[in-house]
Amino acid sequence: MNTLDAIAKRKSIRKYKAEQIKDSALEEIIKAGKTAPNAGPFQITVIQNAKLLAKITEIALAAMKNSGNDFLMSRAALPGYTPLYGAPTLLVLSAPQANPYSMANTSNAATNMTIAATDLGLGSCYMITPQLAFTADPSLAKEANIPEGFSVICAVAVGYSDGNAFSTERSDVDNVNYVK
Ligand SMILES: Cc1cc2nc3c(=O)[nH]c(=O)nc-3n(C[C@H](O)[C@H](O)[C@H](O)COP(=O)(O)O)c2cc1C
Repeated sequence: MNTLDAIAKRKSIRKYKAEQIKDSALEEIIKAGKTAPNAGPFQITVIQNAKLLAKITEIALAAMKNSGNDFLMSRAALPGYTPLYGAPTLLVLSAPQANPYSMANTSNAATNMTIAATDLGLGSCYMITPQLAFTADPSLAKEANIPEGFSVICAVAVGYSDGNAFSTERSDVDNVNYVK
C-alpha cells in the first residue's frame, strides 16, 4: 500500500478478532514506532498476555466510569463497551514524566504504528484510556515491566478488525489556512 493510501485508510477500529497478529507484522509495527520523530526517550511495551489485557480492560473500564468526565462515562456506559475492544495486542507507550515532550514522543510513535498496521492490513486504535488504568493501579506497571521513572502516556491496540463498533465521527471542520 502506498503511504498516502495507508494514511487515508487508517481508521480507529473498535472491534477485534481474537486471532493474534503475526510476529513479523508486530516487528514491522514496532520498527515504524521506533523511527518516528522524537525528542527524548520512550518505551514501547508489547502486551499480548490475555490475563494482563483482561486486567487492564477491567481497571480502565472502572476508571472511565469513575472519571467524572461526561464523555468517558457515556462511552463506558454503552452496552458491551470494553476499552481495549478485544484487541489481542496492546502497545503501551511510556516515557519520563519530567520530559515536556513525552506526550509528543509517544504520540508520534503511536501514530506511525497505526499507519504501519493499516499498511499491513490490520486494525488499530490510538488510545488514552489504558493510561487511566495504569494510573489507577500502579501494580500494572510492575506486571508490564514499564521502566522505572516512566509513566504510561498512551497506547495502540492492534489486531484483525472484526467489523465496526463504537464508531466515532471524524469532524469535518475547516481547520486549514494558507499564507502564500
Ligand atoms: C488524544 C487522543 C486520545 C484518544 N483516546 C481514545 C480512546 O481512549 N479510545 C478510543 O477508542 N479512541 C481514542 N482516540 C481515537 C479518536 O476517538 C479518533 O481518532 C477520532 O474519533 C477520529 O476517528 P478515526 O481515528 O477513526 O479517524 C483518541 C484520540 C486521541 C487523539
